[in-house]
Parts: sequence; C-alpha cells; structure tokens
Amino acid sequence: MYKFSAIAIIVLIAFSSCGDNRTPGRVYAPDMAYSRTYEAYDLLDSTKFTGDVLDKGGDKIYFNAQPVPGTIKRGDEFPYTLPHDSVGYKLSASVANPFVGMSSVEMMEAARLYNINCGVCHGEKGKANGPMSGKVGGIVDLTLPAYVTMADGTMFHSITYGKNNMGSYASQLTRKQRWQIIKYVRTLQGGVKPATDSTAKAAPAVDSATTTKN
Ligand code: HEC
Repeated sequence: MYKFSAIAIIVLIAFSSCGDNRTPGRVYAPDMAYSRTYEAYDLLDSTKFTGDVLDKGGDKIYFNAQPVPGTIKRGDEFPYTLPHDSVGYKLSASVANPFVGMSSVEMMEAARLYNINCGVCHGEKGKANGPMSGKVGGIVDLTLPAYVTMADGTMFHSITYGKNNMGSYASQLTRKQRWQIIKYVRTLQGGVKPATDSTAKAAPAVDSATTTKN
C-alpha cells in the first residue's frame, strides 16, 4: 500500500507539468522558468517582466538590456559622455576616433556591420540609395563634402544618439563597432574600393587609406 501510493504520487507529479508545452506547470522559481536573456523580437510580457526597477518584486522580474551601471563590456571603449543636445553636438567634433589604424580583418567586419545597419538607408556605397531611400525622408549622401569634412566625433555623436529620421545605434552596436564603422565610411568617401564581401581577401589599400585621416 505504502509502495503503491509512493508510485501514484510520483506519477501525479510527473504529469502535473504536462499540457501546453509552451507554458510550464507550476512555477516556483520564475527566474528559472522564464529566461532573463533578451529575446530581441519577442514581446516582453509585462505581467512577468518589468523595466521599472521600482516595480520589481512578487513574481515580477526586473530586466533591461543595459549593462550594469559603472561597468564596461570587455573589449569595449570608454563611455561617451557628451550630452544629447546642441552643446554636446558641437563639442563632439573634438572627440577623436580611438581607432587610428585598423587591420584589414577589422575593416571587413566594419564593412559587414555598415551593410547590415546603415546600408539600408545610406546605400552600400554611402550614396543615399539604399532600399529605404524614398521611404525614409532626408537620408544623406555620406560622400558629399559636408560629410567628408565632418569630424569622426560628430558622426559618432549622431550615430549614438540618432538624428531626426536616423535612430540611435547605441544599443545595436558597441562603441567600438560604431567608431570602426565610421572608419569604414571614410573608405567610401575616399573613393577607395572597400572589401565589402566578407569572403573576399581584403585589399591592403584599405589599410593605408584609413590610417591617413583620423
Ligand atoms: C533609417 C535610415 C537610416 C539608417 C539605417 C542610418 N541612417 Fe544615417 N542618416 C539618416 C538620415 C535621415 C540622416 C539625416 C539626419 C538629419 O540631419 O536630418 C542621417 C545622417 C547621418 C550622418 C550625418 C550626421 C550629422 O550629424 O549630420 C551620418 C554620419 C550617418 N547618418 C551615418 C550613419 C551610419 C554610420 C549608420 C549605421 C550605423 C546610419 N547612418 C544608419 C538615415 C539613416
């Protein structure tokens, strides 16, 4: 009798978590049942997740995609501290690109990131003829003199905070990636044929072209 009821209890427990396999049964540790990872294209269920640190507690899991304050991702650059206003924009011209020279491998990676994140609007060659041109207003041709003479820091400022119809890239691209993409934009402006195909061998010309101007 004792044995039988033990088996019955085990079976009962085993089946209690069955049913719809997308929802676990009884959740006694919600932060294990529901992933804390950032599900990029998922709607965050506001009954479980909150981005408001004051609202956490009970079953609610506090989550935002920001790094812990005061920390820097390994291998990333120091935080950019100029404010998102007209004064910050002006001052940004004096901020130097920390990447003076880049290897051809880094440049190929920057090209890849440019084509993914920027090419849709600015076009593969920076000529404002990406697939979104005509759908998004005011896309600029990055090979025009105004952008050739624009400081790396100013570009970084605009990419970081966004400008009018261009959104912020601060959460999609690390600071390092943003600075390196700017170096790649310089190659589009210089008329140097960049290695856009990540399977292609990088042309050494790309390296020398990017070390000339900071
Ligand atoms: C949704 C389309 C879109 C995407 C994607 C986009 N941009 Fe832009 N970008 C714009 C528009 C529109 C402007 C003009 C903003 C203005 O001055 O009104 C602009 C302006 C700029 C400028 C000039 C900024 C300034 O201060 O005047 C730079 C540099 C630039 N983009 C680089 C990039 C880079 C690098 C990326 C990829 C990380 C990117 N953009 C992605 C639409 C886009």
